[in-house]
Amino acid sequence: MATNRTLTILKPDCVKKGLIGEVTKRIQEAGFKIVAMKLTRLTEATAGGFYDVHRERPFFGELVEFMSSGPCVPMILEKDNAVADFRAFIGATNPAEADEGTIRADFADSVGENIIHGSDSDENAAMEAAYFFSQSEVVANLD
Ligand code: CMP
Repeated sequence: MATNRTLTILKPDCVKKGLIGEVTKRIQEAGFKIVAMKLTRLTEATAGGFYDVHRERPFFGELVEFMSSGPCVPMILEKDNAVADFRAFIGATNPAEADEGTIRADFADSVGENIIHGSDSDENAAMEAAYFFSQSEVVANLD
């Protein structure tokens, strides 16, 4: 059964372009509730750990360098069918293939610098959320 949480990261290109506010506004208007959020800067080690599944891919070095190049904004989001709905909302990994009106179609420059991350499964969403946030940083758990 689908769970109702996903993990997103506003990537360093999103922060550098001054788009934190615009993208966060669109996320909220699309019906996703922010239950955890922080501004942080990944080291090469923490970026590599997050993308460990891609370690053998040819683009891994470039991905780690980019993700540690400046601050980023991870968030945990809640909505019914969060993982699938959020991936539809942000558009395809390659912005050239992203549907009109999606975040990547509107703001991303390339497959490497594609503005935003979205978990690809419920299992990965839970692992990725735990990578960035302790339980006490998740608002829903403080209610
Ligand atoms: P993301 O959804 O964060 O998950 C894995 C990331 O790897 C993906 O977004 C892209 O930014 C990056 N990626 C995937 N394919 C390539 C590629 N061919 N070259 C560079 N980066 C890539």
